[in-house]
Amino acid sequence: MDQKLNLKIDGFSKLKTKRVCLLVGDKLSLSAEASGIWDKTGLDLSALSKASTFEAKSASFFNVFAPNGVDADQILLAGIGDLGADSDAKDFAKAGGTIVNQLRALKASDATIIFDVEASAEQIAHFAAGLRLGHYRFDKYKTNPGKKDDLPPKELKLTLAVADKKAVTAADKIQNAVSQGTITARNLVNEPANVLGTVEFAQAAKDLEADGLEVEVLDEKQMTKLGMGALLAVGYGSRRPSHMAIMKWNGGKKGDAPIAFVGKGVVFDSGGLSIKPAGGMEDMKGDMGGAAAVTGIMKTLGMRKAKVNAVGVIGLVENMADGNAMRPSDIITSMSGQTIEVLNTDAEGRLVLADALWYTKETFKPKFMVNLATLTGANIVALGDQHAGLFSNDDDLSKGLTDAGLKTGERVWRMPMGPEYDKLINSKFADMKNIGGRWAGAITAAQFLKRFVGDVPWAHIDLSTAMGVPATPICKSWSTGFGVALLDQLVRDHHE
Ligand code: BES
Ligand code: MN
Ligand code: ZN
Repeated sequence: MDQKLNLKIDGFSKLKTKRVCLLVGDKLSLSAEASGIWDKTGLDLSALSKASTFEAKSASFFNVFAPNGVDADQILLAGIGDLGADSDAKDFAKAGGTIVNQLRALKASDATIIFDVEASAEQIAHFAAGLRLGHYRFDKYKTNPGKKDDLPPKELKLTLAVADKKAVTAADKIQNAVSQGTITARNLVNEPANVLGTVEFAQAAKDLEADGLEVEVLDEKQMTKLGMGALLAVGYGSRRPSHMAIMKWNGGKKGDAPIAFVGKGVVFDSGGLSIKPAGGMEDMKGDMGGAAAVTGIMKTLGMRKAKVNAVGVIGLVENMADGNAMRPSDIITSMSGQTIEVLNTDAEGRLVLADALWYTKETFKPKFMVNLATLTGANIVALGDQHAGLFSNDDDLSKGLTDAGLKTGERVWRMPMGPEYDKLINSKFADMKNIGGRWAGAITAAQFLKRFVGDVPWAHIDLSTAMGVPATPICKSWSTGFGVALLDQLVRDHHE
């Protein structure tokens, strides 16, 4: 059971909500529109501040029962510190997230946020994105039996009142698309694998047709015909059929080569016969975080009608232990023709991506490919959960992604690659083996992928940031939806 958020952007007009939220700068300053409302209360802000602990620092609040002439019952003073035109997008989003969570904590059912801080329409749109992302929860399976009184209001109706409704509405169209793509990715990752299997995920990709995308889903028969022996081997142990979903957004010039996003979609990774330890295995319902991010960015591009041709390709499989499962020592043949000796069935993501990358390169001749995957524990050891690992054969693409990461807060950190690492995956019996040695596990995994991209500019993002990250004002959920904002920024900065 969760609360719905209904967010409207409006001009300054007569208040229609019970609660009004005024943003207070750290000099205890209210801008014109907010002052107009506050003055009607007859209260002295600095006296109030002296008598309380409210100093208008960011993330501080003071709730006032509104007396007299104000058309609302309550005024929430929200400290925003020094937020203003010089602040960056992330600060605006953070402020939005902080405020919406305070409204949640107050069990508010409606509020008008008077946003007359000096800021561009884009900055205000990032604040709105913060409201949406910060409000997100994944509570659909909590029924709260017997605690009906404790339930939050079913809906939170928010009005974001701004000076230039038209400009903010236009900027919000883009940021709302990014938020909805991120929320789509979060939902997919949070959903348990008994509910979201390969078939259900393929359907979620199909659902993007409603956003104007063209979606094709390949089944095992078609993938067998294409020779995808690596991807298919991962699914041998599962009762669920493997699929590949191909999502196309054609918003660019007709005939222009597309850009391509490729995702690892292991709906559950038990490790297969090289089974994982029990502790933490539950996190592997999120081993489709790469595919979720690809689905999310494709939704975003469609929603905001991006002027680019883009294709999203996701390999959907389940890695289980079973009589039909692939074995350590099996030698499989990938779509590229290269053979792979499987030495650990838990290094399955690279097998999925080997065929997905090769298929994408051969079918679409893309300008570049970015793949996203929860590929290795080793990347988490290296970078923790604050940067995703970036591995690439192309300096421009790497720079574009690094810059986009700094702008959006979805940061990536480039890791080294090279022939000395590549040779660690040479195999005694086949062209390569699916694991390297004890060291540099994130790099040897990337070297493996590199053998399937030819000379297409390519980047691999190892998502140690997709789930289980400490909560922030704009993400209170286990899954983050990491990658959607990052890729959207890359597209907007370089490809539209
Ligand atoms: N999906 C896992 C990697 C992973 C683990 C991501 C935990 C996020 C959280 C991947 O399929 C895997 O099992 N990798 C192995 C590779 C090893 C067998 C070479 C790993 O990292 O231990
Ligand atoms: Mn695995
Ligand atoms: Zn995995």
